[in-house]
Amino acid sequence: MRLIKAKLMKIAIIGTGNLGSAIANGLLEAQVVKPQQLSLTKRNMASLQDFKKLQVDITRDNKKAVQGKDIVFLCVQPQKINPILDDIAEGLSDKIVISTITGFKLKDLQAKIKGAIIFRAMPNTAIAIKESMTCISTTDANEIQKETVSNLFSHLGTSMFIEDELMGAATVLAASGIAFAMRFVRASMQAGIEIGFESDEAQKIAAQTIKGATALLLANNSHPEAEIDKVTTPLGITITGLNKMEQEGFSAALTQGIKASYQKINKIK
Ligand SMILES: NC(=O)c1ccc[n+]([C@@H]2O[C@H](COP(=O)([O-])OP(=O)(O)OC[C@H]3O[C@@H](n4cnc5c(N)ncnc54)[C@H](OP(=O)(O)O)[C@@H]3O)[C@@H](O)[C@H]2O)c1
Repeated sequence: MRLIKAKLMKIAIIGTGNLGSAIANGLLEAQVVKPQQLSLTKRNMASLQDFKKLQVDITRDNKKAVQGKDIVFLCVQPQKINPILDDIAEGLSDKIVISTITGFKLKDLQAKIKGAIIFRAMPNTAIAIKESMTCISTTDANEIQKETVSNLFSHLGTSMFIEDELMGAATVLAASGIAFAMRFVRASMQAGIEIGFESDEAQKIAAQTIKGATALLLANNSHPEAEIDKVTTPLGITITGLNKMEQEGFSAALTQGIKASYQKINKIK
């Protein structure tokens, strides 16, 4: 495997739907890949015309798309991947392959693709605005290859290497986590309307407040309770609300919900 310099990467994305398009946009905007060095595949190419205008290579031919590439993303739905790999696996040896396919483990990929350096990545839908939390696993990459891949995802948000066995847990916490966070915003909005705001005002206040709260955690590298301490005072308003939420089962509902999703994903696997 040759050392890949960031500016010289040639990349193919197999299955350019929601996720593949978000990855392509992020990499093009970050100028990690030149349009002429990027191939995107899809059977119905109507949605790829904007990429074509940028001189990106768009094609239905997966085999041709991977030729001469350094890195190949696999971004099709899980039920589509086996026949595609039967078609292109031979052309993937000596390349970095990054699979985003839910439920398809490293060992499944390694059994199908010989000689490639294989990564599995679990982003979330915030990848479309380059704010994804992407968990990545690999067993056969060296440090340089790991750095190459984490650098790619650093243009699309934040990434973290995890053991492949934790991918199910990452799917629940980070990918389903977007939906869990949305429910928090929606509940806050509903309460906000009850206490006097218009719906759009309540949404803006709730969403920006969550953004600020999580930005505090990330900027200060602090524990949530440390940030809560800063806004709670004895006999105060905030502690009254927090205690009522806990009496109503707030933390229990969230942890039980996450654990239920995890049990479900383990049953599917
Ligand atoms: N969206 C996310 O944020 C997210 C997060 C984590 C993981 N994932 C995983 O990532 C994968 C893709 O998700 P997605 O949301 O992007 O799905 P999607 O929007 O359905 O995209 C998949 C694309 O694959 C194309 N495709 C199907 N058969 C093909 C073939 N033979 N050759 C080339 N392209 C083909 C489809 O287009 P045509 O039918 O036109 O070919 C479709 O646009 C899934 O496995 C999903 O579980 C997604």
